[in-house]
Amino acid sequence: MQAFLKGATQTSRPQKDKSAAGPSSEKRAKAVPWVEKYRPKCVDDVAFQEEVVAVLKKSLEGADLPNLLFYGPPGTGKTSTILAATRELYGPELYRQRVLELNASDERGIQVIREKVKNFAQLTVSGTRPDGKPCPPFKIIILDEADSMTAPAQAALRRTMEKESRTTRFCLICNYISRIIEPLTSRCSKFRFKPLADQIQEERLLEICAKENLKYTKESISTLVQLSEGDLRKAITFLQSAARLSPDKEITDQVIIEIAGVVPSKMIDSLLQICLKGTFEKLEVAVGNMVDEGYAATQILTQLHDAILKQDIGDKQKSAIAEKMAVVGKCLADGADEYLQILSLCSVIMQQASQS
Ligand SMILES: Nc1ncnc2c1ncn2[C@@H]1O[C@H](COP(=O)(O)OP(=O)(O)OP(=O)(O)O)[C@@H](O)[C@H]1O
Ligand SMILES: [Mg+2]
Repeated sequence: MQAFLKGATQTSRPQKDKSAAGPSSEKRAKAVPWVEKYRPKCVDDVAFQEEVVAVLKKSLEGADLPNLLFYGPPGTGKTSTILAATRELYGPELYRQRVLELNASDERGIQVIREKVKNFAQLTVSGTRPDGKPCPPFKIIILDEADSMTAPAQAALRRTMEKESRTTRFCLICNYISRIIEPLTSRCSKFRFKPLADQIQEERLLEICAKENLKYTKESISTLVQLSEGDLRKAITFLQSAARLSPDKEITDQVIIEIAGVVPSKMIDSLLQICLKGTFEKLEVAVGNMVDEGYAATQILTQLHDAILKQDIGDKQKSAIAEKMAVVGKCLADGADEYLQILSLCSVIMQQASQS
C-alpha cells in the first residue's frame, strides 16, 4: 500500500535512475544524479523524438487524449516525456491528485490492478485547475516498465481500461512491445522512441559540460556518444562518473573507456588470433583471464561482434558466428555462466575459421 501511494508523488522515479546516483559523500544538495538534474522539464525539451512530441502535443491540446503506449530502447526519453507532459497539463498542485505513476518497483500484480488502479480511476474529476486554467477532465495512470507486468495483470487491465475510459487515460511504457499482450496494444496509440542520433547526444553532453564547468577533450565526448549507442542516460551517467573520477583534471577518452568497462582492443585482438590460429588450451586460458579480470561478457560479446565483422573470413562462416552470438546474447540475458558462454562462442569461431 505504501509503495503504491508513493507512486503518485512527483519525486518517485524508476529504480534504475536512482542507481545512477553513485556514492554521495558530497553535500546533500549536490547529490542529484545528472540524469535527473537534466531531465527535460517540458515536452519541448525532449530531444530527437519530434514526431512523438508533435502528435502528443496535438492530443494534449484537443483534450481527447487516447490511451498511450510508449516503447523503445532505454534512455531515449519515454519516462521524461510523459512526466513533462502530465506536469504541463495539470500544473504542480493537481499533479498529485490526477496522476498515478507506477513502475516496476511497485507492487503491480493482478490484485493491485484490480483494486488500486480501479479505485484511483473511478473518482471523477473536473475540467479546471485551481489556478483557473482549463485542464483535461480525466486522470492519467502511468504504468512505467509495463513489460515487467505479468500477463494476468495485463489481462486484468483490459477491462479496467475500457470501463474507466470516461475518467481515466493510461500511459503504458516499455522497452519490449512484444511483451505487452495484443489486446492492450490495440487499445493504445503507439509511439516509438528512437535511439538518439550522435549529433543530438553530443549537443546535450556539451550543454551539460558547460553547465557543470567541466574540462574535457573532444575525443572524450565522441567516445561517450559512441559507447552509449543512442542511450542518453548511459552517456550522461558515464560523464558524471568521469567527472567524479577526475575532479580537477581534464576528462579524456581513456577515462571514459575505463569507466565504461571496455575491453582493451589488444585483448580482443589476441583472443581473436587464438580463435583463428591457436589451440583450445590457449583459448580456455585467454577467456578465463578476461572473465577473471572482471570484463562483462556482454561487453566482450559486443566487441567480438564488431571485430568479427571486420575479419577476413567467409560470409557463410560469419553468418554462423552471428547466429551463435545471438544465442549467447540471449543466454547471457537469462543469467547463464559468463565464462562458459564466451568459451562456447569462441569455440564456434574456431570451428568456423578452420573451415574458411
Ligand atoms: N529525448 C531526450 N531528450 C532529452 N533528454 C533525454 C532524452 N532521452 C533521455 N534523456 C536523458 O536521459 C535520462 C533518462 O531518460 P528517460 O528516463 O526518459 O528514459 P526512458 O526512455 O524512460 O528509459 P527506460 O526505458 O530505461 O526507462 C533523462 O533524465 C534525460 O536526462
Ligand atoms: Mg523509463
